[in-house]
Amino acid sequence: MANVAVVGSQWGDEGKGKIVDWLSSRADVVVRFQGGHNAGHTLVIGDVEYKLSLLPSGVVRPGKLSVIGNGVVVDPWALLAEIEKIRAKGVDITPETLVIAENCTLILPLHGAVDRAREEARGTAKIGTTGRGIGPAYEDKVARRAIRLCDLADARVLEDKVDQLLFHHNALLRGLGAAELDREELLNQLREVAPKILPYAGVVWQRLDELKRAGKRILFEGAQGALLDVDHGTYPFVTSSNTVAGQASAGSGMGPGAVGYVLGITKAYTTRVGSGPFPTELLDETGEQLGVRGREFGTVTGRKRRCGWFDAVLVRQAIKTGGITGIALTKLDVLDGFKEIKVCTGYRLKGEVVNHLPAGQTAQAEVEPIYETFEGWSESTRGARSWAQLPATAIKYIRRIEELIEAPVTLLSTSPERDDTILMHDPFED
Ligand code: IMP
Repeated sequence: MANVAVVGSQWGDEGKGKIVDWLSSRADVVVRFQGGHNAGHTLVIGDVEYKLSLLPSGVVRPGKLSVIGNGVVVDPWALLAEIEKIRAKGVDITPETLVIAENCTLILPLHGAVDRAREEARGTAKIGTTGRGIGPAYEDKVARRAIRLCDLADARVLEDKVDQLLFHHNALLRGLGAAELDREELLNQLREVAPKILPYAGVVWQRLDELKRAGKRILFEGAQGALLDVDHGTYPFVTSSNTVAGQASAGSGMGPGAVGYVLGITKAYTTRVGSGPFPTELLDETGEQLGVRGREFGTVTGRKRRCGWFDAVLVRQAIKTGGITGIALTKLDVLDGFKEIKVCTGYRLKGEVVNHLPAGQTAQAEVEPIYETFEGWSESTRGARSWAQLPATAIKYIRRIEELIEAPVTLLSTSPERDDTILMHDPFED
């Protein structure tokens, strides 16, 4: 029996919610290991819809332990608000069901303000962040001046750390001619929130080690996607964490051997929110059609997503850099009715054919997709629950994708409904 890590293999929004929900119903523990409340997962259980940003998807299911690992950046105010919202739907969230790593980094109000101000200053060169302070919080973490959850329990250290933090941020604000941050105001905010959030603090690596030794099934829940990874993505148009499955171990305090099966959630076409290169983007009616049929609007910011054909080059790269074992292919039904469907199999760059996305920004902007064209299908694949219900042309499309990305389709999702799924292989039984 393996533990399972679920990650996105494109630019996020691949439809992780439904699959994570299905897997979390079979797991004992669900662990978030990177990112913060920039993520957005919608779960539908029975007829109740839950929108989660920071809470692991297991929280809505009784008897599961939810864990926020050290690799996550936690905005305590946003988290407490989310807990209240989910509680209002009748879900019990207590320190028995939710544990937050005592060594995780906190997102402070100043991080959100810096994030948004910087984006505005960048003008047309903006990254298109979610404005939640994710980047600035991770910057403070690696610069070794972040305030961590455990610091809230130590009044003297907290004061020292606030001084160090403001020494840095106020110097920058002064340079920009902006108002400086007030030490007492920040300290009061932190003192006020401390007793509300500290009861959830725990020694996550130790809890997970015990649970692993007791044979419990652990699900690592990734956020965003491989192409938003700070190392392997379309830098600088990325998020500020490692989104690949390798981070599941570092971001939770478990060794790499604990991760097990890596399931890459992959949409049957491609979408992206925010700025940055997107070789197969369709700025025409077909792109519009994909967006409308796929209801491609962000769950966190409501932004319209950019849409394009499936890019096998990028997904193959995500599979290699992220160690993805198999993929869950989602939203195949959005392609129903297209006369022709295209898949990008390589790029042309300065007259040469390349089989990967180069790291340089200019090259990333200049690559031109080389397409293979498929005959579409007029039948509906929506709700299909077996291969026999799929048109032959759809099966051909899936088989060719498997070949191009060099990984098997483990699971096929044919509608947002939980049961509309074709399972080829159970990742927990690997
Ligand atoms: P940040 O994570 O808010 O710093 O945003 C950096 C980039 O990642 C932007 O392009 C965002 O749109 C994108 N991003 C962040 N979180 C998500 C997500 O959960 N889904 C899709 N894109 C995301």
